[in-house]
Amino acid sequence: AAAEKGGWSSFMAKEVSEDPEAVANTLRGRIVDGLPSLGELGALDDETLRGIDRVQIVACGTAAYSAMVGEYAIETWARIPVEVDLAHEYRYRDPIVDERTLVISISQSGETMDTKMAVQHAIEQGARTLSICNTQGSTIARASEAVLYTHAGPEVAVASTKAFLAQVVGLLLTGLHIARVRGTMTDEAIREVTEALEALPDQLRTLLAEQGEIRELAQWMSDTRSVLFLGRHVGYPVALEGALKLKELSYIHAEGFAAGELKHGPIALIEPGQVVFVVVPSPRHQQGLHAKVVSNIQEIRARGARVIAVAEAGDAAVMPYANQVLRIPLTLPLLEPVLSVVPLHVFALELATAKGLDVDQPRNLAKSVTVE
Ligand code: G6P
Repeated sequence: AAAEKGGWSSFMAKEVSEDPEAVANTLRGRIVDGLPSLGELGALDDETLRGIDRVQIVACGTAAYSAMVGEYAIETWARIPVEVDLAHEYRYRDPIVDERTLVISISQSGETMDTKMAVQHAIEQGARTLSICNTQGSTIARASEAVLYTHAGPEVAVASTKAFLAQVVGLLLTGLHIARVRGTMTDEAIREVTEALEALPDQLRTLLAEQGEIRELAQWMSDTRSVLFLGRHVGYPVALEGALKLKELSYIHAEGFAAGELKHGPIALIEPGQVVFVVVPSPRHQQGLHAKVVSNIQEIRARGARVIAVAEAGDAAVMPYANQVLRIPLTLPLLEPVLSVVPLHVFALELATAKGLDVDQPRNLAKSVTVE
């Protein structure tokens, strides 16, 4: 087993180190001359995609958070209404589905029973189906009309890391492809995004080399009993993912919130000493949102809590208020989750390690849940 981990202390640590390759492999061969090229979608040809009037994304766990990022991207770029459903809730809300609906399932394993049943329901209703999946030949991939394999490589640790990044990138590629086919973006606008996508692997390498600070933070926090995560826009699913990973691995109470909800309830939880991670939107691209999140940070600090901000390089406005700032390289807003989630994954890994827990096999969890 030590050899399989390639010198890393855990599969999870190894898999996080593989983030850059996972993203590069998801992108490989799918951008040609700066434009998305997904000929592999077969039955979901351009004419079919032009006829789609609704997208529904179904997934569980971490994959469902990648789906939320996909919702923002597909709506922004392709201008089609998108809904995200936890796969196990999908059938039971009796969703409106027909042959003009594209149902995208997201699954690392391709074997999650809840997700498989949602896809089956979609097929019964006549929907078109796309699987974004990491496992070749898996059940969900085979059940779907088309598959976009993420090619992130095998993921052994129960907690998903590199597969999450690959799922987000797979959804971003899908959104751009649909936008190109439907003519909702100019080639120039698409090229701005593909250029940013192609920069991600190197940016991830730089980012991963800078995570020593988080190890220290995790060691210092090993007795913490509760951690909150806040984010807005695509930073919201990142906050949810940060909280999920922390509770899964270190058995600490962790909750993610949309930062705008703070004043509608969660602020009651803020007390001296409470640690709050805040995923901060880009001040360059999202000035209005950025100001609102900085004001959230001030409100949290005013109540004596400790703020750890995940913010883009050069964002000086967070400095006076955050106790600590974890920096991420510059990208476009819809791509940010691919970078901003990394310090949160590393934090969960390091905190569980500091507590002496088995990070690859957390209690009560399974890598792939093949029962409903
Ligand atoms: C399990 C795993 C999670 C994963 C979820 C969905 O609960 O513990 O890490 O996110 O299943 O798995 P999938 O293989 O469908 O992506």
